[in-house]
Amino acid sequence: MTREEERILSGEQGWANQTCMKILVRLGELFGAEKLIPITSAHVSGISYKTLGDAPIEYLKAMADANAEVKVKTTLNPQSLDPEYLIRKLPIELRNKQLKILKQFDRMGMTESLTCTPYYLGKLRRGSHMAWAESSAVVYANSVLGAWTNREGGPSALAAAIIGKTPDYGIHKAENRQPNCLVHVKTDLRNETEYGALGIHLGRLLRDKIPIIQGLQKDNDRLKQLSAAIATTGMTNMFKAGSTTERKKTETVEIESNDLKRTIEELNTASNKKPDLVFIGCPHCSYAEMEKTAQLVKGKKVKQGIELWVCTSCHVKEAATDAVKQIEKSGGHVLAGVCTVVSWTEKLGIRTIMTNSAKTAYYAPTLSKADATLASMEECLKTALQG
Ligand code: F3S
Repeated sequence: MTREEERILSGEQGWANQTCMKILVRLGELFGAEKLIPITSAHVSGISYKTLGDAPIEYLKAMADANAEVKVKTTLNPQSLDPEYLIRKLPIELRNKQLKILKQFDRMGMTESLTCTPYYLGKLRRGSHMAWAESSAVVYANSVLGAWTNREGGPSALAAAIIGKTPDYGIHKAENRQPNCLVHVKTDLRNETEYGALGIHLGRLLRDKIPIIQGLQKDNDRLKQLSAAIATTGMTNMFKAGSTTERKKTETVEIESNDLKRTIEELNTASNKKPDLVFIGCPHCSYAEMEKTAQLVKGKKVKQGIELWVCTSCHVKEAATDAVKQIEKSGGHVLAGVCTVVSWTEKLGIRTIMTNSAKTAYYAPTLSKADATLASMEECLKTALQG
C-alpha cells in the first residue's frame, strides 16, 4: 500500500474513507491482489428499494453524513419506479423510501443515471480499469467495449467510487483475460432472443471460463443480450467473438439448435397466451432499439388489457424523442431509469410478462412472481398490438 492509502486506512481521512479502504483491502487480500489500481469510473448496483430493502439505507446515510464523496465518475443502476408513470401507480411509502435512497447517492456526488447500460452515456476508453457492479454491463464492457472490470457487488463498487481505486486482481490482469475454451455455435442465431438463450445455456456450462465464441454477428444489441444472459446463470465475466479459423482449445463446446430450443422452452413458463405486460428493454434499450420499437408500433394501438413498457435510461429517452412520441402515441409507456425486475410489477397485478430478454424471463418467476413468455421483439410487439 502507498503511504496515502495507509493513512486513509488508519482513519486520517475520516470514517467513510476508512470504511471504504477497509472493504477494498479485505477484498484484495481475499483474491491475492498486490496493490490497488486507479479506476476511471464506477457503477453501483443495489439502487432499487425493492432489491435493497431497509437496512442498507442507514449505511448509505451514515456514509453521506460522514462526507463520503466519489473520486471518479460514478453511475447508478435502475431504481424501482420511474418519475412519470409508475410513480403515480405505486404506494407513496415506496416512493418516499426510494427517494431517500437516491438522495444519499446524490449527496455522495453520484450521477443519477439510473441505468444498467451506463456505456451509452459516454465512450469508454479501451483498456481502462473500472469498478462496475451490474453483471450484464460488466460482461458487455469487457467483451464488446474492451474496458476492464471485475464483477463488483454494490458495496465494493461504492467503496471503489469513494477511494477512486480497486484491488488489482481477476480480470484487471492481462493474463486472466485469455480465453480458455472454444464455443462453436453450429446453428444460425436468428434474433436477440436466441443470443439471450445462448447466454443462459453457456452461463450454466462455462461457470467462470472465458470462451471464444464462433458464429456471432457483429451486432452490439444482440451481443448485449448475450452478455446479460451469460452473466445471469454463470460467473463468466467476458467472452471473445472468434472467427471460424480459431485454433482449438483444450475444451471445446458445441452448441446445436436443440440446445437453444430447449433453453427457450424452459424459460417460457406462461401457459396463458395473453400477457398482462409486454416488456422491451432488458438491458435498457439503445437508441437503435428505441427506433426499431417505434417503427414496429407506428400507426397502431396497443391492445386494451395489455401494458407495453419500453425501458431505457433518461439519457437515451431524451435523445430518442421521436421514437418516444411514436411509442406513446401507440399507447405504450417509455419508462426511464427502471425495469420490471427491480420494480414492483406484482403490486400492479402483473402475472404474465412477455419479453425479448432471456434475463428477464429467467428472473420473472422468482423476482417478479410472474410467468414469462420469451420471444423476439417483433413477436412481443405483435402480441402487444393484437393480443
Ligand atoms: Fe437492466 Fe433490469 Fe435487465 S437492471 S439488465 S433491465 S434486469
